[in-house]
Amino acid sequence: MPRRDVSYSADVGNNVPTMRYVPYDIRARLETRLRRLDELAIPFPQNVNEFAMFCLLLACFPARPVSYLEIGCRHGGSLYAASGFLPEHSLIIGMDLPGAAWGDHESEPSLRLIADELTREGYDAHLILADSSSSEAKQELSALLAGRHLDAIFIDADHTFLGVSSDWNNYRTLVASPGMVAFHDIARRSDTPKVEVYQLWEELRNDYPHLEVIWQYGIGAIWLNT
Ligand SMILES: C[S@@+](CC[C@H](N)C(=O)[O-])C[C@H]1O[C@@H](n2cnc3c(N)ncnc32)[C@H](O)[C@@H]1O
Repeated sequence: MPRRDVSYSADVGNNVPTMRYVPYDIRARLETRLRRLDELAIPFPQNVNEFAMFCLLLACFPARPVSYLEIGCRHGGSLYAASGFLPEHSLIIGMDLPGAAWGDHESEPSLRLIADELTREGYDAHLILADSSSSEAKQELSALLAGRHLDAIFIDADHTFLGVSSDWNNYRTLVASPGMVAFHDIARRSDTPKVEVYQLWEELRNDYPHLEVIWQYGIGAIWLNT
């Protein structure tokens, strides 16, 4: 697996500002998580500036989340990085179907490595290796939640309009009051027409309190039940 350069400037390119606007504590914590991913040889396919803002939201608003679902984890890079902003013992659930859209058929061992690492760090970490649109995935999630709600969800799976809308519609009802749902790849990208998340995002941003950060791929977060 290719190793990723942990340097911010190398990650984001010369035209993108560095994390100088990100509070020091968030930046330092994210850097520590990225170093650990490097040691584990797990890639982090996110723009660090955008992801740092997402981490800031996890750490600060509306209350510190203790239950987190990521739909679309591939090798577990963003799952691991985001988890560092949740308190110890938090429920962390990664949902992915290895080899589905934007995925890798061989990603399961990496995902298991990340789940084990999170467990070792004191989190209540689980994987659901299933199609997020299937009733099996939703049933497995409900069993893990056992009546609890999700404080935060990060959606980064099928990027077609139908795919991301299906994830949103399937899991929005499980979000806590208040809770946050964030979407990766909200930027409109002419080079990758299959990325249609912006179509859903343009609807949601009209209906919910939201924050969007677009330096490269774009991350948008909305708050529900506030
Ligand atoms: C862009 S990658 C996720 C990258 C990851 N969030 C990270 O930053 O490390 C998209 C992932 O979504 C998964 N995926 C796509 N469609 C899916 C579906 N219907 N159900 C479950 N997983 C899906 C793919 O297998 C792939 O691993």
